[in-house]
Amino acid sequence: MNVEFSASFCEPFISSLSDDAPYKELRKLAEAHGVPSLELSACQALRNIASVKRPGKSIDIGCGIGVSTLAILSGCPGTEHTAVDGNLERILIFNEFFKNRPNVRSRQMRGEQWLTGCADTYDLAFVDSVKREYPIIWQRLRPKLNEGAVAVFDDVLLYGYVCCQEAEVPAKYRSNRLEMINFLTEIFSDASLSAQIIPVSGGMLVISLP
Ligand SMILES: C[S@@+](CC[C@H](N)C(=O)[O-])C[C@H]1O[C@@H](n2cnc3c(N)ncnc32)[C@H](O)[C@@H]1O
Repeated sequence: MNVEFSASFCEPFISSLSDDAPYKELRKLAEAHGVPSLELSACQALRNIASVKRPGKSIDIGCGIGVSTLAILSGCPGTEHTAVDGNLERILIFNEFFKNRPNVRSRQMRGEQWLTGCADTYDLAFVDSVKREYPIIWQRLRPKLNEGAVAVFDDVLLYGYVCCQEAEVPAKYRSNRLEMINFLTEIFSDASLSAQIIPVSGGMLVISLP
């Protein structure tokens, strides 16, 4: 191949193939409230993971108003699903949207805090909180994951800065970049895990447990 190929260069084309109908209403609501929500291509990837994994129990940490939760439920409608977000306003919108889904519950608290106190264990976890909290969330999440579980962390490429030399990175992202690189190194050097970064959206880290 004689051209520089980048998967993200193709993302607008890939996204144009996806059907955004299931997410339209909720994404509009997110936009209206100025709340960040999962990109369409990432929704598709998460939905596919859920549909292959068929989790009995799933968790969404940093659920916002629920776009990522909707992606998980689209892939596996019957999963017993817990959604956690620290922001009360977002949880209230979430509750209204999912009020007719008896298998969905939400908690307004920090993900780390929920994972420390809960008795549940999960087959699928999606994490989309503050990126520098990923290492602590992983530390608390891992003991709560069942055999064969899958954990997905969104936006691990930090706008591509994890791939750049430190000198090329704006000062305000340098410590984030280093922390993310350390986190990724920890995951990829753990021989008991199978990990991959899928180049959709800001980079999705998918970790499979034995
Ligand atoms: C990018 S938004 C999530 C969007 C959501 N996944 C969706 O697709 O609609 C990040 C969310 O994480 C929440 N958050 C950040 N740190 C958190 C933490 N430690 N525990 C729980 N929620 C957190 C924020 O309140 C925010 O709503």
